Amino acid sequence: MHPASSSTHEIPEAHMIPRHVAIIMDGNGRWAKERFMPRIAGHKHGVETVRTAIKACIERGINYLTLFAFSSENWRRPTEEISFLMQLFITVLKQEVIKLHENGIRFKVIGDLSKFEPKITEFIRNGETMTAANTRLTLTIAANYGGRWDILQAIHKMLAQHTDLSSSFEEKDLAQYFAMSYAPEPDLFIRTGGEQRISNFLLWHLAYTELYFTDTLWPDFSASTLDLAIQSYQRRERRFGRTSEQLKISKLINEMRKIPPKKMA
Ligand code: IPE
Ligand code: IPE
Ligand code: MG
Repeated sequence: MHPASSSTHEIPEAHMIPRHVAIIMDGNGRWAKERFMPRIAGHKHGVETVRTAIKACIERGINYLTLFAFSSENWRRPTEEISFLMQLFITVLKQEVIKLHENGIRFKVIGDLSKFEPKITEFIRNGETMTAANTRLTLTIAANYGGRWDILQAIHKMLAQHTDLSSSFEEKDLAQYFAMSYAPEPDLFIRTGGEQRISNFLLWHLAYTELYFTDTLWPDFSASTLDLAIQSYQRRERRFGRTSEQLKISKLINEMRKIPPKKMA
C-alpha cells in the first residue's frame, strides 16, 4: 500500500495524537497593525512562531507538520511585501535548514518553484537532499502553493507518464503525483487569524481532515493553542462516511482482538 493513504480509499486508523497537522499561518499583518508596526514585523515574528510550532509538534509525537507560507494568490500583494517575504525566506533557509537537520527533521517544500529566483530553488533542493533520511518530523513548507495548481500539475504528470490512462483513471492513479504524495493526508487542519476558509490550500487532501479555526493571530500561536486544537480533535468522531454505531462495533472488535487467547490447561 502507498504510504500516503487516502481516506476515500481505505479508512485510516484513528490516533489520539494527529499524525499530520496542516496549518494556514494567518494574521501576521493584523498582529503588526495592532502594535502600530509595519506588516513585515508580523512576518518576522511569524518565523519565531514556526520554531515554536515545530518544537511543540515534536514534543507531542506529531510526525508531519505542513505550513502554508505563501499562496499562489499572494503574488497579488504589494511588491515591497513580496520582496520582503522572499528575502525572509532566503534568510530562514540559510540559517535554519542545518538546524532542522541537526534536530532530525526532514525538510520538504511543495508549490510551483518555477516562479522563485534560482537561488531560492537551489537552497530548497539542497535542504531537501540534506535532510531526506531524517525521520523525527517531516516539515513541509507550502510556498507558491495552490490546491488547484497541485491537482492540475498532478494530472499533467500522470498523463505524461501514462498516455493509455487518458480516458479512464481512478483516485489512486492520480494521488501519487500530488506534490505531497510522501505524506498521509492531514488529520488536523488549523487556521489562525479568524478567517474560516481554505484559501486554495490542500484542496484534495483535506477531504476528511478535521478542521479547527482559531482567532489567535499566527505570531501569538503557542504550544497551548496547539493543545486546544488537539483537544478539539480528540473530541471528534471521525466517521469517514460510516454511522456512529458502526464505529462503536468496529472499536469493540478491535479491542477484543487485543485480548490474548487463554492458554490451554
Ligand atoms: C499570513 O499573514 C502570512 C502570509 C500570507 C504570507 P497575513 O500577511 O495574511 O496577515 P493578515 O491576514 O493580513 O493579518
Ligand atoms: C493564506 O492567507 C495563505 C497563507 C497563510 C500563506 P491569506 O491571508 O493570503 O488568505 P486570504 O487571502 O485572506 O484568503
Ligand atoms: Mg491573511
